[in-house]
Amino acid sequence: MTGMFKDRHIVVTGGTGALGGAVLKRLLDEGATCHVPSSHASAPADFEYAGNDHVVLVPKVDLADAPAVDAFYAAVPALWASINLAGGFAMARIDQASPDDFAAMMDLNARTAFLCCRAAARAMLASGTEGRIVNVVARTALEPRQGSGMIAYAASKAAVAAITVGLADEVKGKGILVNAVAPSILDTPANRKGMPKADFSKWVALDDAAEAICHLASPQNKATSGALVPLYGKA
Ligand SMILES: NC(=O)c1ccc[n+]([C@@H]2O[C@H](COP(=O)([O-])OP(=O)(O)OC[C@H]3O[C@@H](n4cnc5c(N)ncnc54)[C@H](OP(=O)(O)O)[C@@H]3O)[C@@H](O)[C@H]2O)c1
Repeated sequence: MTGMFKDRHIVVTGGTGALGGAVLKRLLDEGATCHVPSSHASAPADFEYAGNDHVVLVPKVDLADAPAVDAFYAAVPALWASINLAGGFAMARIDQASPDDFAAMMDLNARTAFLCCRAAARAMLASGTEGRIVNVVARTALEPRQGSGMIAYAASKAAVAAITVGLADEVKGKGILVNAVAPSILDTPANRKGMPKADFSKWVALDDAAEAICHLASPQNKATSGALVPLYGKA
């Protein structure tokens, strides 16, 4: 360990989720203080960082709600990075999807990412300091044909990809680097339950995804911005 995040404040949305847990572990090992919003009134029972002095869990933050997002970021001191993992997935062929299903995916993935990117960029621009923003899209954002059967989800992650690349250009030259990772299938308990016959060895290990994300969020990343990084494991 190098202590590369020592004394740095980092927002991790989706920090209570599967990928979020692996990212928090990596950041804490490197000395960060992590600020984790949750839509729930308290941390999930299995949240292993409850009570950790370097994890500030903030309950009842709906990341699709602009005032709630702005208030959450306003309370974070000296924001170094925002790692925006909050999101979710739903399968639905277009003939079975309603406009509300489409709006739900756009809210869960695109709106939350837009609001978090906006609040993080504002904080970094106002302080005039360097910063890092890392989003998470999906393989479908890089390979839209793979969005067959999940068009609303694919569209919402494509929107996050557009936000990432456009924002990287908007803040170019200001020391704020903006990137996204694009995982295929992560090796999570939920995916193992949902696809019990799959070959898990072909999936992306959570620690490996966390490593890639934390590099992009680190001060060691000095040049990469506007990248959508494929994390496809052995698939
Ligand atoms: N799993 C995969 O195979 C895969 C593949 C490609 C991309 N991804 C993307 O990677 C990210 C993480 O995936 P995961 O499997 O770790 O997901 P997960 O375990 O389902 O966790 C989702 C997280 O998002 C948070 N969240 C969702 N809506 C929120 C809201 N309105 N306000 C606040 N927090 C909200 C949840 O927090 P609370 O429940 O505490 O509110 C939870 O921590 C997602 O964006 C997902 O789309 C996953």
